[in-house]
Amino acid sequence: MKVLVIGSGGREHSIVKACLQSQIVGEVIAVPGNGGISQDALCYSGDIADNSAIVSFAQEKKIDFVIVGPEIPLCNGLVDALDEVGIIAYGPNKVAAQLEGSKSFTKRFLQKYNIPTALGKSFTEVKEAISYLDTQKFPIVIKASGLAAGKGVIIAQDKNEAQKVVTNMLIGNAFGASGSEVLIEKFLDGEEASITLIVSGKNFINLPASQDHKRIGEGDSGLNTGGMGAYAPAKVVTPELFQKIKEKIITPTLDGLQNDGIDFKGTLYIGIMITNDGPSVLEFNVRFGDPETQVLLPLLETDPIKLMHDCANGTLNPVDVKIKDKSAMVVVIAANGYPENYLKGDEINLPDDDTLDNVQIIHAGTKVNEQGKLVTNGGRVLGITALADNLEEAATAAYSVCEKVEFNSKYFRKDIGHRQLKN
Ligand SMILES: Nc1ncnc2c1ncn2[C@@H]1O[C@H](COP(=O)(O)OP(=O)(O)OP(=O)(O)O)[C@@H](O)[C@H]1O
Ligand SMILES: [Mg+2]
Repeated sequence: MKVLVIGSGGREHSIVKACLQSQIVGEVIAVPGNGGISQDALCYSGDIADNSAIVSFAQEKKIDFVIVGPEIPLCNGLVDALDEVGIIAYGPNKVAAQLEGSKSFTKRFLQKYNIPTALGKSFTEVKEAISYLDTQKFPIVIKASGLAAGKGVIIAQDKNEAQKVVTNMLIGNAFGASGSEVLIEKFLDGEEASITLIVSGKNFINLPASQDHKRIGEGDSGLNTGGMGAYAPAKVVTPELFQKIKEKIITPTLDGLQNDGIDFKGTLYIGIMITNDGPSVLEFNVRFGDPETQVLLPLLETDPIKLMHDCANGTLNPVDVKIKDKSAMVVVIAANGYPENYLKGDEINLPDDDTLDNVQIIHAGTKVNEQGKLVTNGGRVLGITALADNLEEAATAAYSVCEKVEFNSKYFRKDIGHRQLKN
């Protein structure tokens, strides 16, 4: 089978690596890929937001199966466009992708089916949003409803700040069309965890629960980022808690989708806040997390590409899935200054892959420059991923490779996994 992977981040590099190990994949190519992906697969430039260009490319290259990594092409209906010409693709169609593409849509869906989530209300008019704020307690959470690359959620500490945020979004065009509708919701306290499912209609496979580290600084301080590291399984999701999540969140969500005539096929990533009153849905994403993918795919004993292909085909059989009894950690190495300003173009020296035991060097913001040198090309540069018998060993293995990576602006958090490792 000839596979095309769409995207250019760490998530897509992990997917490409899984393709190389898959029995069902004969060849894998990527659009547009990155510096690391280009060492593992042929990469072609292309605009992943242009459905017809991707469809023609897939036809020209005689692709059998497309794996769509990021949310933008999913929300744009790339899977529907491929389906129209008979090319199977992994990921939800445009209607189903609204679960990520519109936080207001999702809030209405959750409320309709009594699925636990923070009390919230959507607004398109600034006057109405501001009078609603007059009746609320603070801190409060304000979200641009549309896609905002992880930057569209602001926790406002007081009314004054909240008024400024909604005004900036609704009138100031702070997030463009994505902020033309805002969701204002109650602030929830608790520990966060992520549940990743591969869903095919009523059937689903649940991958190990994971925990991400969104803030740039140690001890979860400083600005929000796309994610500075992750680990799985996250023990905070005990088997009892998972049962509750299944009963109160997963089952009613999948039933609700069916009831609304939405045929969901692909990844359903559920961001959960574990509150004193139980688990509550913070958000849905409709693609694998980045960097969570880097820890989840290596934990699968079953071929993840086969699962994605079965899912897209509508033949997913949850009984067949085997998860390794191991722990995985990814530590993201960023360029100093990220998530604000940072330099690109730093030359990168990496330890030889063959010397690494159970560690994968996953590329995110890298490229091979005109001189053929590997250089930094983004805020999050690499993800060092280790698989071991337990989380302590995974951390030791990942961090020992982090120390060996060389580039001038290198920065990484030294406390990935701290919530679980301290226990
Ligand atoms: N109601 C809430 N109460 C407290 N914190 C919240 C709430 N909603 C969101 N957050 C915080 O903001 C973060 C981002 O929110 P959310 O997941 O909705 O946004 P996102 O931009 O879609 O994130 P991602 O980039 O992970 O898809 C959450 O991980 C959580 O830390
Ligand atoms: Mg999201």
